[in-house]
Amino acid sequence: MTATVGYHLGLTSQARELEQESLPLRGQLPHWLEGVLLRNGPGLFEVGGYRCRHWFDGLAMLQAFTLREGRVGFRNRHLVTRTLEQAQRSGRIEGSGFATDTNRPLLKRLRGMFHPNLTDNANVNIVHLAGHAVCLTETPVPVAFDAHTLETRGVLPFTDNTTLHMSTAHPMTDGHSGDLYGFGIQFALTSEYLLYRIPAGSRQRRIIARLPVKTPAYMHSFAVTENHLILSEFPLVLRPLDMQLTGRPFIENFRWEPDRGTRFQVFDKRRGTHLGTCVGEPCFAFHHINAFEDEAGQLQVDLAAYPDHDVIRRLYLEPLRRGWQEPACGEAWRFTLDRQRGKATRNRLAARGLELPRIHAKRCSGRDYRHVYGTGNHVPGALTDELVKVDVRQGTHLIWNEADCYPGEPVFVPRPGASDEDDGVLLSVILEAATSTSGLLVLDAHTLEEQARATLPFHLPFGFHGEFLPDQR
Ligand SMILES: [Fe+2]
Repeated sequence: MTATVGYHLGLTSQARELEQESLPLRGQLPHWLEGVLLRNGPGLFEVGGYRCRHWFDGLAMLQAFTLREGRVGFRNRHLVTRTLEQAQRSGRIEGSGFATDTNRPLLKRLRGMFHPNLTDNANVNIVHLAGHAVCLTETPVPVAFDAHTLETRGVLPFTDNTTLHMSTAHPMTDGHSGDLYGFGIQFALTSEYLLYRIPAGSRQRRIIARLPVKTPAYMHSFAVTENHLILSEFPLVLRPLDMQLTGRPFIENFRWEPDRGTRFQVFDKRRGTHLGTCVGEPCFAFHHINAFEDEAGQLQVDLAAYPDHDVIRRLYLEPLRRGWQEPACGEAWRFTLDRQRGKATRNRLAARGLELPRIHAKRCSGRDYRHVYGTGNHVPGALTDELVKVDVRQGTHLIWNEADCYPGEPVFVPRPGASDEDDGVLLSVILEAATSTSGLLVLDAHTLEEQARATLPFHLPFGFHGEFLPDQR
């Protein structure tokens, strides 16, 4: 039996940039699968004298897997940002990352009260804004790049006058209009949540709703249904003045206050009216799986949830590199909101862990659905070592795994003309620890059977999110 090498290589930098027309390929790509998988995530954890403390603060690197004529091509480029240049030049960074100490002196912090130095290290997600491919993190600083060459084009500012100090890296696209919905937070003595819409083709955030809040919660994503916008306020909250006074890294200012429960703030999607708050058991989540209005008119909100925020602590690089002892993923939980009683009740959707959830978004986002795909964990201490498919109606699941192989977020690509929700493939970037290489895995989304695998000559650090852009025919 071969000894396990482990996931740790996925948390080390990759300084190389590569352009390769055709990678070694095992198996066969479906003939209809033509397009580009764009991925975002950390590329470098150390630059000059600068060392990241947390997985989420790695300096952004873009990856593109091109699937065409049965071949898989590859390209990766580091995102050229002010943060990267500062780190290269001085071994320090000034922008406020997730858990990065920026060493800003108290006087500077107080002078810039509630005007934090926003990071442009946009390493989380990729969306399309006014015809540009942009990278996002949790600051309102989109960084545009060339979707073909992956060259950085620079910050693409919004064209409105709204000041936000934090904004979601997970805006949601409306399938009909192409508009983007998002939310952000303005920190002040009384802070505000802002929900906004960016009309297709525009860079203007039009404010739909504002909700004043004394102690804003850390929220990484939110939910959009046909008629509602929902903020899931987990009881991980911040007194904004503390952030200015302590100078601690952003996330270390938040406190876990489970007695608050999880507060679902429901808004009318068009009028922006705050329709009410439903309170449920305390939990924490980075990712919403989906949300929808059921036949009875009740709102269902599905999360990849954890019982508390401890997962944030466990994703610091030092404990991660030392090794995990606990399962590394959330569980699919459904909260049913009862707006009359102001209550939210919770059900577990499957007996298998799940993180980095993806659905057939084009067809099911904001609507009743059946299948969710995600990363999972089965060997304790192995971070992310399987892919999971959960049938949220039946409560059943399927698994893909392989010894010493660590997959990332599975992106669902529907087969053109398909009628079944799960008729298509999953694309996941995997780390094969035994050979110190990464690659692209293509699974049949119906069965989770492997269809093809392309292998790179080196490893890629574990990334976060991305999109498949099908070729226009
Ligand atoms: Fe995310």
